[in-house]
Amino acid sequence: KSPYHSLMPLPKAELHLHIEGTLEPELAFELAARNGVVLPHADTDALREAYRFADLQSFLNLYYELMAVLRTERDFADLADAYLARAAAQGVRHAEIFFDPQAHLARGVAMGTVVEGLWAALGRAEERHGVSTRLIMCFLRDESAASAMETLAAAGPYLDRITGVGLDSAEVGHPPVKFREVYEAAAALGLRRVAHAGEEGPPEYITEALDVLGVERIDHGLRCAEDPALVERLVRERVPLTLCPLSNVRLRTVDTLADHPLPALLDAGLMCTVNSDDPAYFGGYAGDNFDAVREALGLDREKLRQLARNSFLAAFLEDDEERRTR
Ligand code: HPA
Ligand code: ZN
Repeated sequence: KSPYHSLMPLPKAELHLHIEGTLEPELAFELAARNGVVLPHADTDALREAYRFADLQSFLNLYYELMAVLRTERDFADLADAYLARAAAQGVRHAEIFFDPQAHLARGVAMGTVVEGLWAALGRAEERHGVSTRLIMCFLRDESAASAMETLAAAGPYLDRITGVGLDSAEVGHPPVKFREVYEAAAALGLRRVAHAGEEGPPEYITEALDVLGVERIDHGLRCAEDPALVERLVRERVPLTLCPLSNVRLRTVDTLADHPLPALLDAGLMCTVNSDDPAYFGGYAGDNFDAVREALGLDREKLRQLARNSFLAAFLEDDEERRTR
């Protein structure tokens, strides 16, 4: 691996990043000590040993378990600041950051604690790290639509800090249509819309996310590759996909990185982007994902530049305040 070819310095936007998935073992233990939380893992090495996942659910179990250490505004600020520092070092100039309020509300951590804490870090990210940011609030699709609607209501006082809504957690059995009314309400509030679809779920979920939820980007969208007519539509409508190659390997959505459909999707004309998803768990931040696909898939310089260009084209760079007052 020649350092001369590393894509770390290439300016990029990260559009698929769960802030709770940036919790590195060292910070998890630090926050656990600070908050008097006992983790069921001996130390950071033992915790890293647990990072061998069979599928999305086995990852989610650990992801939700470790959130127990996030209690105060300061915890959320420290978490986001650590991510922004690492992302900046890997060429990220703009980050659209997912958060999962339901996972915190369920533990007695208030919406205000989460949003104000994240905002403390995001508000100084341009100055401190040279990274512009947006916040995207995700609904947990394995919770009820009523719970998602309550969460949207709870975010009411903080909507000036939230650019859009997303949909994540266990996909299969929880089709996008379940959240029709929630997304209609989000649209009426002027929020941008995205959703995870086609990670473990079938290509039909991608179509439904577009037609029923009105999403502007598809998170993952990997399984569109199984449906040529869908690929054609995504190309025609220039729907961006926020792919996460190292995540797909770790969650065994693809066998190896060399089997990833990214090159085929690019050749088909899709607006692909490369992102890190949950970098603390999946072995790499944004630049690591770029380097890994270059290495394993042999993408040429032009394709790699196209991926970086796409990330800015697909970003919600518009001024939030201007959009809402239109
Ligand atoms: N998929 C679904 N839900 C998630 C993910 C993911 O990759 N990461 C965090 N929550
Ligand atoms: Zn994700």
